[in-house]
Amino acid sequence: MPTAKLILDDTTVELPVIVGTEGERAIDIRKLRAQTGYITYDPGLANTGSCQSSITFIDGEAGVLRYRGYAIEDLVEHSSFVEVCYLLIYGELPTRAQLEQFQDRLTHHSLLHEDMKKFFEGYPPSAHPMSVLSAMVASLSTYYPDSTDPEITELNMIRLLAKLKTIAAFSYKKSIGQPYIYPRNDLSYTADFLHMMFAVPSEPYEVPPLFEKVLDVLLILHADHEQNCSTSTVRMVGSSGADLFASISAGISALSGPLHGGANQAVIQMLEAIREDGGNYQKYLEKAKDPNDPFRLMGFGHRVYKNFDPRARLIKKLVDQVFNEMGINDPLLEIAQKLEEAALKDEYFIERKLYPNIDFYSGILYRAMGIPTNMYTVLFAMGRLPGWIAQWKEMREDPHTRIYRPRQIYQGSTHRPYVPIDQRG
Ligand code: CMC
Repeated sequence: MPTAKLILDDTTVELPVIVGTEGERAIDIRKLRAQTGYITYDPGLANTGSCQSSITFIDGEAGVLRYRGYAIEDLVEHSSFVEVCYLLIYGELPTRAQLEQFQDRLTHHSLLHEDMKKFFEGYPPSAHPMSVLSAMVASLSTYYPDSTDPEITELNMIRLLAKLKTIAAFSYKKSIGQPYIYPRNDLSYTADFLHMMFAVPSEPYEVPPLFEKVLDVLLILHADHEQNCSTSTVRMVGSSGADLFASISAGISALSGPLHGGANQAVIQMLEAIREDGGNYQKYLEKAKDPNDPFRLMGFGHRVYKNFDPRARLIKKLVDQVFNEMGINDPLLEIAQKLEEAALKDEYFIERKLYPNIDFYSGILYRAMGIPTNMYTVLFAMGRLPGWIAQWKEMREDPHTRIYRPRQIYQGSTHRPYVPIDQRG
């Protein structure tokens, strides 16, 4: 087994090296503190492998993303989102019979307990659907408690996958004051969600097949992304033994931030601001480059991808296809294209290897489908759900899992005498 040598003071410590199946190398520092008294410092955990996983592989330099070994390009072309959910959670692509049974279970668990409808009434109409989603997922554990029985744990995974789209659509209906539309078992997972979003009881609604296909592809592209912020949150919360619903509710909250999933909403808000500002995208590019301005170009940059984001490439192709097929024209698309073109030629972005990420063009597609801006991150959560579930399951089944409990380097006051209140000031 290869080892790494670390020289600390006068001692040399040998640390084991772990090699992944795709050749990545990691220095195993599990015994570092016990052997040396030292810890490591890595804010944002950018150089820290927090687990060994067999779910998703990313090569950030080459722009590669694979789920369980399958390239996302192949999955997008040949699989449905439900098939990808099965793949991520169970590790293999399903046979036809396995897929049918899985689909059947997903449709038969999609109703919410009727009492849960009352929860939606308690939120203000202005509530962000991501906050509602996180709260509703946390409340599922009151109906479906955790168990040591693996069959119940697995059933809870199915329940969550089946019900998340119902919760998402109900939160939208509540926010616009329309009646809830119940799930329909004759529709595909994606069509069912679109139907619950857009149908009203007073007339029939046919889900446009193009929207069903586009959304299915978008969900596949969001389905997992190894140890990103929300997934690490799911694993961290789950590492304490917290149940699936609590862990994933925390993951949804982590995803809501503008540096993570919330970026898809922020991109459209940024493009709208540029349009209202007379289309002056150059001004926003300059703002993004100004070290004294906190503004960042939303939908640009990535912790791992340093060449291109393969999801962004596929989404951009989809944008062209959908806009051609629908014959629509969106001024925000034109601004986005100009902004991208200018950024890719700009030294600041080139030097820092900043490229459009998955969120740059996804909002443009959601807009074309008539999905309101504050639902974009909810769709990200729907797509990411099978990844969170798979990662939570892997974490629970991994004998090496320990409760997440990082260390710190304390930089505060050293011990000082207590000052009584009348002697302070
Ligand atoms: N606009 C302008 N400058 C940027 C941007 C940006 N979007 N992203 C990074 N930079 C600069 C940053 O200021 C820093 O410059 P300097 O070296 O001069 O200080 C350098 O690039 C490195 O950035 P960083 O913040 O150290 O990189 P990170 O890996 O910690 O952050 C990121 C990654 C995605 C949070 C960041 O690129 C960002 O804030 N992007 C905009 C938000 C966004 O689109 N988020 C979605 C990410 S993809 C989907 C997802 O994960 O949810």
